[in-house]
Formats: sequence, C-alpha cells, structure tokens
Amino acid sequence: MEELNSKTKSKSFESKRVFTLDMRLSVNVDHVASLREARKAKEPDPVHAAVLAKLGGADGITVHLRKDRRHIKERDVRLMKEVVQLPLTVEMGLFDDILEFVLEVVPYKVTLVPERVEEVTTEGGMDLSDKNLRESVIKFSSVLKGKGVRVGVFIDPEKRMVDYALDCGLSFVEINTTAYSRNPSDEDELRKIKEVARYAFEKGLEVMAGHALNIHNVSSIAQILEIDELSIGHSIVSRSIFLGFEKAVQEMKEKMIRSRLLALLNSV
Ligand code: PXP
Repeated sequence: MEELNSKTKSKSFESKRVFTLDMRLSVNVDHVASLREARKAKEPDPVHAAVLAKLGGADGITVHLRKDRRHIKERDVRLMKEVVQLPLTVEMGLFDDILEFVLEVVPYKVTLVPERVEEVTTEGGMDLSDKNLRESVIKFSSVLKGKGVRVGVFIDPEKRMVDYALDCGLSFVEINTTAYSRNPSDEDELRKIKEVARYAFEKGLEVMAGHALNIHNVSSIAQILEIDELSIGHSIVSRSIFLGFEKAVQEMKEKMIRSRLLALLNSV
C-alpha cells in the first residue's frame, strides 16, 4: 500500500497530499428521525441507526438540525455525540438559536447550508456571492472555530464559490451532487464536480460531496481522488428497510472503496 500511495501522489500538489483508498462515508440519519416523527413516536431511534452505521463501517455521522425540527431534535444530537463516538457533522442554516445549541454540543464539523422552511430537502448550495450572506458565514464560523469546530459550506460546483469559501476562512467545502445524481450520464455535470474538487483541493481545502447519491450513481463520484468524504443519507435509509441498516451502510462503503481502488489503479 505504501508503494501504491507513493506512486499516486497528486502531481501538482506533491508535497502536501497523498491519495489513498480512504474515502470517508458520513451517514446522514435524518430520515430515520423522519419516520419516527411521522408517528410522533419513540421509534425508530436515529441514535440506534448511528450505532448500526458505525458497525457497518461508517466513518462519521451527519445530522441536519432544522429550524422546524421536522426530524432531528436536540436530544438526538446530544446522544449521538456522547454515545456513538464517531466524528459528528451538524448541518445547519444561519439561525442564532441553532448556533447557540451547536456551541453547547461542540460537534466535530459544521456544514453551513441554505435553509428554507418550505423546502423538502436542501435545494442547492449557498450563494456566497451575496456579501451579506458571506458576512453571516464569517460571523457564524468564527464563533464555531473558537470552540474548535471545523466549519465548511455546502456549495454548487462552481470555482468562484470555492474562492468565496476561502475568503470566509472555511476549512472545507461540500460539493452539491444533486444535478449529477439526477442525471449521472450527463458528463458535463460530472466534469464540473471533478474540476471544482480539484480546484478546492489544490487551494488546500478539505473536499466533501453529497446530496442524492445512491448505490447506482456513487461510483463516479467516489473515483474523484480529491474528494475526502461523502455525505449520504436518504438512499442508505431507504435501502436499510430491505437490507437492515448495518448492511446498507456496508454496501455503500464497499462500493465507494472498490470505485476508489479502480481510480487509484488507473492513475498509476
Ligand atoms: N449534504 C447536504 C448539505 C444535505 O443537506 C443533505 C441532506 O440532508 C445531504 C448531503 C445528504 O443527502 P441525501 O439524503 O440525499 O443523501
């Protein structure tokens, strides 16, 4: 493996990073909570799902604490941090009350996302070309960074959004994969993600990607060596109904690693 690693260094970034098989999977358990909230019951418990995700090989857990608390609640986030002991990422909109709570829990990472109450799911990346929005992002991220939290932002695959993220002093970007996921044979969408991932990587940012990825479309994204981590929720929760949670996570992680191996072997 050592030899494989040394041969697959990024040419333009040689001293800084080595590409490896490791691509982290952070499992988003929001929709386990959605099912619970459909009945306002106690089950299924997203904390239980997070534990099974860990057994299935997840490298992290992600939750989106929404303003309307439609799925994940404060109790879930607290327990997830205490019990599961995997790096916890909280997705959040720019809301002061959520910030206050997140500062109390101190997750490993926070991904800032645009959030509209009426939306069914996150609709797109944050438009950091808006100066007021950038000022809010800087305000939120500096408070969070003060507590040792890594802060990043969800962006559409555009290089200028990476530049704005750098201006805001963020540690990572998560590239929105929705357009690609809707039409995985659209080479243009895949190319955009590849170019932005490489650009962000070369600028020294940690690169994540996610939204609407599933077992059928994840392979091309997992082959982008500049991407460190994928955030996947809905499709894993959906498949877990038929396969079991642990198995659904394991299946996704295996697919990612197999795709990654292919990309590494093709790059030497
Ligand atoms: N990334 C972000 C920023 C999201 O808002 C979501 C959905 O909560 C995801 C990734 C995961 O998307 P999906 O549930 O479609 O896998």
